[in-house]
Amino acid sequence: MSNNLVTVAYIAAIVLFILSLGGLSTQETAKRGNLYGIVGMVLAIGATALGTGATNYGALFAMIVPGVIIGAVLASRVDMTEMPELVAMLHSFVGLAAVLVGIGNYLQPASELGAELVGVEETIHLIEIYVGVFIGAVTFTGSVIAFGKLKAIISSKPLTLPGRHLLNIGLLAGTVALGFVFMGSSGGVQGTSGLPALLGMCGLAGLLGAHLVAAIGGADMPVVISMLNSYSGWAAAAAGFMLSNDLLIVTGALVGSSGAILSIIMCQAMNRSFISVILGGFGQGAVSASGGSSAPGGTATSTTVEDTVELLNEASSVIITPGYGMAVAQAQHAVADITKILRDRGTTVRFGIHPVAGRLPGHMNVLLAEANVPYDIVLEMDEINEDFGKTDVVLVIGANDTVNPSAMEDPTSPIAGMPVLEVWNAANVIVMKRGLSVGYAGVDNPLFYKDNSKMLFGDAKANVSAILAQMQTVDAKVPAMAG
Ligand code: TAP
Repeated sequence: MSNNLVTVAYIAAIVLFILSLGGLSTQETAKRGNLYGIVGMVLAIGATALGTGATNYGALFAMIVPGVIIGAVLASRVDMTEMPELVAMLHSFVGLAAVLVGIGNYLQPASELGAELVGVEETIHLIEIYVGVFIGAVTFTGSVIAFGKLKAIISSKPLTLPGRHLLNIGLLAGTVALGFVFMGSSGGVQGTSGLPALLGMCGLAGLLGAHLVAAIGGADMPVVISMLNSYSGWAAAAAGFMLSNDLLIVTGALVGSSGAILSIIMCQAMNRSFISVILGGFGQGAVSASGGSSAPGGTATSTTVEDTVELLNEASSVIITPGYGMAVAQAQHAVADITKILRDRGTTVRFGIHPVAGRLPGHMNVLLAEANVPYDIVLEMDEINEDFGKTDVVLVIGANDTVNPSAMEDPTSPIAGMPVLEVWNAANVIVMKRGLSVGYAGVDNPLFYKDNSKMLFGDAKANVSAILAQMQTVDAKVPAMAG
């Protein structure tokens, strides 16, 4: 394929990637957005493989074919609740690829480079390699730690080592110092003399990435994931500079900047400082890694399906706040059926959605849309928070951190300052979960012990289905009695 054709294919791929990002911004256009992305990627890989740069097709196919098969099998087996783990793992691959491309590029003899680089150009290329390997290493180890936290292999609580900010500054200073050694020992040219400094920096950057992410607590993980998404974009852009590949530079910059914008939006929604999160909690007040200053007192009162149905029968306004447990239990269809029955009877029913409920941005919205809950009764936290005080019954279905009052009441709590759904202001709160265990952030929840809260223990789908069955029986009897 001629260079001109490759350029045309690259431009088409870039346009498709931009259309894809635009499409992914709303639920209605998301499928189309995905399709643009897939077509763009096929075009990008095809043009690169058929371009003048690729010569060893045996090696290329030996890598691509198993990669495609393993990727397709793994992705098709992943549950929706496990998507963040998959995303974190994929980010780590981008980081690792940038590290390997950088080291490979440094070792490549100058004669094999497409363009002969001399003087300042060669110096710039060495800086590109050094910066690319740095971003790649931070992304790689940060994403591996994020994967471990999301998979619950590593505790989701923040790692608060003594002097942790000094440690970060020390690691950063070490990478800068090794940068001077690298440039000096390379003598401004590629080869192997600067390799020890390059590998040493790679180790320090890896430690920095791991430590920055380990210091972030469970509830802030959504911001960390989108931030690592952004880093993986910049790592890809850096690889693009090293390989002189314009498509990789533009695509990396698109991912890097959209990930950064998403991180800022999430930080605003969760009342967190963006700078503090990317610096591993720098400037945050003292938080307790063990989950707040004191365990909540009092006794939790349990309730039954029958009593919950009675409360719902008498209520004129109901708000449902779903969380991760509803997704695990796959209770959304039964929840949608209860909603329909209540609305048909004239009860006002609305949903309150926290920005980080579940494990994915928009997780609850997707589940409720799948169960055909009308969009106009699904409200964001800011739209509904003031209405809890005027509500008869709140059904908390498998949510925990997102309805935890300690975020507002306990300044030492790891989730202190995070806006939450203020469900406790309602007349009655029914919390559906299997026990009194903590949520993702590992923080005790005083909501369970409030006077107006009752716990409906058990699997969310089993309980919601039992409520639905009783309501259907009541509704079936009413016309018969009237007749
Ligand atoms: P969580 O705080 O994670 O709590 C979910 C609760 O669901 C658990 O306490 C669990 O209690 C219950 N549960 C689990 N399986 C259940 C089942 N089958 N039936 C009934 N209940 C079940 O949920 P949340 O309020 O949605 O908050 C989300 C958390 O995840 C936040 O901390 C957020 O920062 C974090 N996070 C979010 C994202 C995104 S982007 N949304 C990504 C990563 C992390 P039992 O074990 O007692 O049943």
